[in-house]
Amino acid sequence: MILVTGGAGFIGANFVIGWLDGVDEAVVNVDKLTYAGNLGTLRSLHGDLSHIFVRADICDRETMDVLLAEYQPRAILHFAAESHVDRSIHGPADFVQTNMMGTFTLLEAARHYWSTLPDGEKSTFRFLHVSTDEVFGSLDAGDTPFSERSLYAPNSPYSASKASSDHLVRAWHHTYGLPTLTTHCSNNYGPFQFPEKLVPLMITRALAGDPLPVYGDGKNVRDWLYVGDHCSAIRAILSKGHPGETYNIGGWNEVTNIEVVRTLCDLLDELRPKRTGSYKDQIAWVPDRPGHDRRYAIDARKLEREIGWRPAETFASGLAKTVQWYLDHPHWVGEVASGDYRKWVETHYAKSA
Ligand code: NAD
Ligand code: TYD
Repeated sequence: MILVTGGAGFIGANFVIGWLDGVDEAVVNVDKLTYAGNLGTLRSLHGDLSHIFVRADICDRETMDVLLAEYQPRAILHFAAESHVDRSIHGPADFVQTNMMGTFTLLEAARHYWSTLPDGEKSTFRFLHVSTDEVFGSLDAGDTPFSERSLYAPNSPYSASKASSDHLVRAWHHTYGLPTLTTHCSNNYGPFQFPEKLVPLMITRALAGDPLPVYGDGKNVRDWLYVGDHCSAIRAILSKGHPGETYNIGGWNEVTNIEVVRTLCDLLDELRPKRTGSYKDQIAWVPDRPGHDRRYAIDARKLEREIGWRPAETFASGLAKTVQWYLDHPHWVGEVASGDYRKWVETHYAKSA
């Protein structure tokens, strides 16, 4: 089996659901269930004996040791993190704790577990660390996209904490020989994304009739990748990647924020027209994010050359699927966005805590 951290969050849950749909191998899903982790996202796996959900904090070394000893996974896929840049600006402490200390704790637990494995299993074991392109900082308009050789230059508390975790992973490979893989992916979008990130925030606010807040001049550029493509890249890297290597994952879709918002409005105008006017009428310009990175762009040629991966979705096809998914799942949005969900989790888990 494999052990996934953060599998009740956006990308982790998409990964777990996709994995169990395509592979006959069980998953231990370890998640703390912060505001960003939701069991409702995993409802389709209810009753599936191949999915073992454990509510736990990756900073808890004892529990990580127990889980690894009990389930003996052949790989750890580490998605768990605090992931929202704006929240990291308001409160960086959780980012340092989970992204740095949590990754450190997990690496130590993994190293201990790995050292007890027989030689054959030792060499095939993998620790796959899911990181971000944001560790490379900000590009100007004419700069070449980030490659695996780009220098680290993180600018936000979020990206600095992810960069720190990357360095730890690198060192645990270099010093202890732990067979690690590190991925740097661009901005994801798709089903089950918490409505604090740009794409779901704009869709849900548009439908609610609220203003659509675009930071600064709206010309910051992100390279957008459909979450299903990110998950397929991770599966490919897990099976074909070389220990100690890093891989950039990108969608070849550089788009400005205002273009993203206008495209979402066009899709909603078509699929759920307003009585009068366009959703674009709700666009509102708001002050810029402090330290806002101007442009991210990913050169994903190493992944294509060495692993044979390319994204299946275009930005147009992925965004259309995403808008349709949010239109079809208002209940999920209501559940994760309301305080009721949090209260339910606290009550439900109080007995087992
Ligand atoms: P998310 O915020 O939606 O989910 C994170 C999950 O981790 C949640 O389920 C949360 O409960 C869990 N978690 C947080 N702290 C934990 C802890 N201490 N112990 C156990 N679980 C904990 O994040 P996401 O968007 O799914 O991102 C997943 C990973 O991918 C992150 O490492 C992120 O840095 C990386 N990434 C994200 C993007 C993106 O666009 N979303 C792009 C590139 C890389
Ligand atoms: P976000 O989804 O938070 O991802 P990241 O900051 O990790 O790239 O934001 C994507 C882009 O959208 C980023 O340039 C900030 C911008 N943005 C807005 O303009 N308005 C918003 O309300 C949010 C959340 C983001």
